[in-house]
Order: sequence, then C-alpha cells, then structure tokens
Amino acid sequence: MSSGGPRDVEAAFERRFGAKPEAVVRAPGRVNLIGEHTDYNDGFVLPMAIDREVRIALRPRDDARVALLALDLDRETSFELDGLERAKGWQEYVKGVAWALRQDGLELRGWEGVVAGDVPRGAGLSSSAALELAAARAFQASSGFAWRPERMARLGQRAENGWVGVSSGIMDQLISALGREGHALLLDCRSLEGEAVPLPEGHAVVVLDTGTRRGLVDSAYNERRAQCEAAAAHCGVPALRDLDEADLEAGAAGLDDVTLRRARHVVAENRRTLEAADAMRRGDAALLGRLMDASHESLRHDFEVSSPALDAMVACARRQPGCLGARMTGAGFGGCAVALVEEAHLTAFVDGVLACYDEGDLRPEAYVCRPAAGASRLR
Ligand code: GLA
Repeated sequence: MSSGGPRDVEAAFERRFGAKPEAVVRAPGRVNLIGEHTDYNDGFVLPMAIDREVRIALRPRDDARVALLALDLDRETSFELDGLERAKGWQEYVKGVAWALRQDGLELRGWEGVVAGDVPRGAGLSSSAALELAAARAFQASSGFAWRPERMARLGQRAENGWVGVSSGIMDQLISALGREGHALLLDCRSLEGEAVPLPEGHAVVVLDTGTRRGLVDSAYNERRAQCEAAAAHCGVPALRDLDEADLEAGAAGLDDVTLRRARHVVAENRRTLEAADAMRRGDAALLGRLMDASHESLRHDFEVSSPALDAMVACARRQPGCLGARMTGAGFGGCAVALVEEAHLTAFVDGVLACYDEGDLRPEAYVCRPAAGASRLR
C-alpha cells in the first residue's frame, strides 16, 4: 500500500494525471475543548480546528463525473453526479456532499483529484467532517459557487445525516468550516454564530488517543439524543438549551432518574462552556482546566459516555505536572481525551502520560495540536 500525507497530494496529482492541479483545497479535523453532547440540544460548544487535515488537489472536468484517488488508501473511485447511488466506503462522504449541495440548488461540475489526510480515523477528531468540508471546497473550486462557511457546514451535516446515515450534530462541520488560527471558537449551535477566543498564552492543547475505537456508538448516541429530547419536551421547552440548572430542577418532577441525569449534564455543560469561553477571554487557564475536569466527571457519571480507557487516560493526564485539566472529547465510548498543559512541561507531560497509560495491548498516542484555520483553498 502506498502512503502519502496531505502534503503529497500535488505531486501525486501530477504523477496520476500528468499535469499540475488547478486547485488545492483543505479542511481540518477538530478537537472539542468543552461543550460535549450539547450541539444537538441547540447549545454551546468550544472546539478548535487542528493542524491535521484532509487535502484535495484537483482539476475540473467538462462532464459530470467525479474521479478520485485516495492516496492513503491507494484506492481509486469515480461516480456520476447525475444518478448518484449509495454504496459503502469513504467515497460516500464526497458523494453525500454532492447530493446535499445539489439538493440545496447548487449546480455542480465534475472534477478529478487526489485526496489525502492525516486526521486519525475513528478517533473522535472528525476525520469525516474534514473530508466533507474538503469535498465541499473541491466542488466550490470546480463549480464556482459562493463559499459561505455556515451554509457549507449545514450541507456537510446534511450529507452525514441524510446520505451516510449518521445522526451527528452540527459542531464538527461548523468548526471545520469556521476554524481560526490560534483560537478556539465559541459556537452557538442554534444561531450558528461563532466567536473566536484565544488559547491562553503559554499553554498547549494535547490530544491523547486511547487506542480504543468507539464501538456501538451510533445506537448509544441516538439513545442519548432521544433522552435529551424527552427531557426538553417534559419541561415544555424546544431544547435543553432553553433551561438553566434551576429551571431543570423545578421542572424535574416526574422525570425518571436516567433522563434527569442526561439533562443535568447538558444544562450544566452549556453553563460550563460559556464560563470556559469567558475564562479564555481573560486568559484564565486554571479556570478553563477546572471546567474541563468538571465536564469529564459529568460525561462519566451523568451522561455515561466515557469508557474505562478514557477514564484511565484522563487520570494519567491529571497526574502530570503542568496539566491544568483533562477530559474525554467527542462522542465518547473510546477515541481521544484532551488536556490543557503548560508549555514549559509539554515534553515531560507527553512522556509521562504515555508511560502511565497501561491498558494491555492498546497503543496510546499524543498529538500536540495547534489551532488551525477552517476549510480553505490553498491555490
Ligand atoms: C460527535 C458528533 C457531534 C457532537 C459530539 C458530542 O462528534 O458528530 O455532532 O454531538 O459527538 O459532543
């Protein structure tokens, strides 16, 4: 199997198609600092786009065919824009984006290209949203419609929900579209408005991969969504976003214990996310770290989406000098944790966590991530 990272797509395009690409586009993965399982409750999230991405080198075609070489998989695929048919595999994200763009009234032209990425797949870093937004950018480059990031994020989500069949919220696509270098984004998942907040100076965000992959996540995710909707309906509001902690306790009579704990997580997590953004505006890294810790406990005990491996990783992170806070990130049940670490301790932190985490044959990884810009055209 040949391998190649995002930086190799241009050379690979020349080898495969015998000419230079006419456009190169990219879209990043993401890590969520705080605000977990709040997006589908119309709530607040605080993710940052990371310096790991999907990149596509392409040239438009005169017909309605999309032909793609996936460098990291060493596979080629192609499909016709007229008469899209569902199948299985990575190309469905590209196809799904074409389907969603056309459903929204955009006229598309075909293209041929080379795609590669370095966002680990299935780890909770949104490799699929990165592919969706990169595909949207590729269609924009071939077809020439206006690039409106919020609209493209919505259409990426529609591709995921309506074509691929995963009922995710809007966070991943939104941050992949809107990310800003050096900043996390406080996103309102109801209005889709975003505010850039800087990472506290002298601190780094470290993603810690447990080496576990989320099994059964779809059914558990859908169950959590249904429980949140039931709690909102019980309290007579459109979404849990519309409740604060006092409202929830006042309206809780008659809710079963499990549903109440799910709702408690979401309502408190929305507050923590707003507090975290405020802490970042003031450069208060210590408070941001404490809020991340509290988020993990709430996800573990009330929302119940953590796992033994995630808990072990978080415990190892918190034990290291210079770690201000750590939590699971993304949907849960496996994948990655995220930690806020003083830069002066970074090397020792990474070595210390990897030595501490001892979960049988699992191979942990640590990625120091810099906040990156959202989907863009490089040339
Ligand atoms: C997944 C989904 C997101 C969000 C998170 C949990 O990453 O794709 O929309 O719901 O889980 O916060």
